Amino acid sequence: MDRPTRSPDLNLIEHIWDIMSRSTDQELAHALVNMSFASLSKGRKVAISTLGVLTAGGAGLALVLHQSVKASDLELHPPSYPWSHNGLLSSLDHASIRRGYQVYKQVCAACHSMEYLAFRNLVGVSHTEEEVKGLAEEIEVVDGPDESGEMFTRPGKLSDYFPKPYSNPEAARAANNGALPPDLSYIVNARHGAEDYVFSLLTGYCDPPAGVSVREGLYYNPYFPGQAIAMAPPIYNEVLEYDDGTSATMSQVAKDVCTFLRWAAEPEHDQRKRMGLKLLMGSAILIPLVYYLKRHRWSVLKSRKIAYRPPK
Ligand code: HEC
Repeated sequence: MDRPTRSPDLNLIEHIWDIMSRSTDQELAHALVNMSFASLSKGRKVAISTLGVLTAGGAGLALVLHQSVKASDLELHPPSYPWSHNGLLSSLDHASIRRGYQVYKQVCAACHSMEYLAFRNLVGVSHTEEEVKGLAEEIEVVDGPDESGEMFTRPGKLSDYFPKPYSNPEAARAANNGALPPDLSYIVNARHGAEDYVFSLLTGYCDPPAGVSVREGLYYNPYFPGQAIAMAPPIYNEVLEYDDGTSATMSQVAKDVCTFLRWAAEPEHDQRKRMGLKLLMGSAILIPLVYYLKRHRWSVLKSRKIAYRPPK
């Protein structure tokens, strides 16, 4: 034997080194082919094939088990509703935002905070500045300390944030059977299905199907993950009377509050679409211009040939 026996790994490393040191493409291709499946020993072929079958089988089994064990048989996915602001260039319906704020204030605000919204945010969106000042003055805000070091209350100002129904999460849980009503500022961004989900959730309460019972203090809602939600149905027909005279059916109320929540989560919505339109119009002019410059002006420069002619 002219070579000492070595481990197969060392042979492999040598083989790879061999491949890397080939100079021409043809040699490289030849070396790579030598490393193919066919060149492996029979035992290795069997081992690799078994591993492959096991991996594929395991993944398939996991997928099937996941599908069958997933307890979402009774969960409904929200349909996609034709929101008036869905279009590429459609703005939010601001009359609807205004009604939605009224719904939030008169219904949802009893349990849900919207701590990232200040009264000033409503100015020019759903209300005039005078109206918002009036709304802000309705609340009492603790401010201070004054010169004597005492805290005092004063009427709200434009710069104040929306009042919270509970002073801390523990108080909120205590008042709601242990469930925490989430802050609604960004709720449509925080849930799959966005406003379609919130709309379906608000209007989707129903009796549990036969054989299903929900615990005391929970309500059946097919759109809520797990189907048992701690929020009692918050809205129904005529739950409030709209200032603008719109008839407050359940679906109207849900639609308005969802539009309001979409605005709250994405106040730049209208601005974003307006900018998008400007961008499209700008690029409609710029792109042909750039094309012209590249093909006609620039090509002359780029296809120039500079040659050095040595003196004879
Ligand atoms: C009586 C108190 C109460 C009122 C009023 C109320 N909610 Fe709730 N809400 C809750 C509680 C409690 C939860 C938490 C439910 C849970 O986790 O099971 C909740 C949860 C939610 C959720 C989150 C659901 C999820 O996917 O986690 C949304 C959205 C919501 N409420 C919207 C509203 C809207 C909009 C209104 C006004 C029309 C409203 N709620 C009025 C108590 C209330």
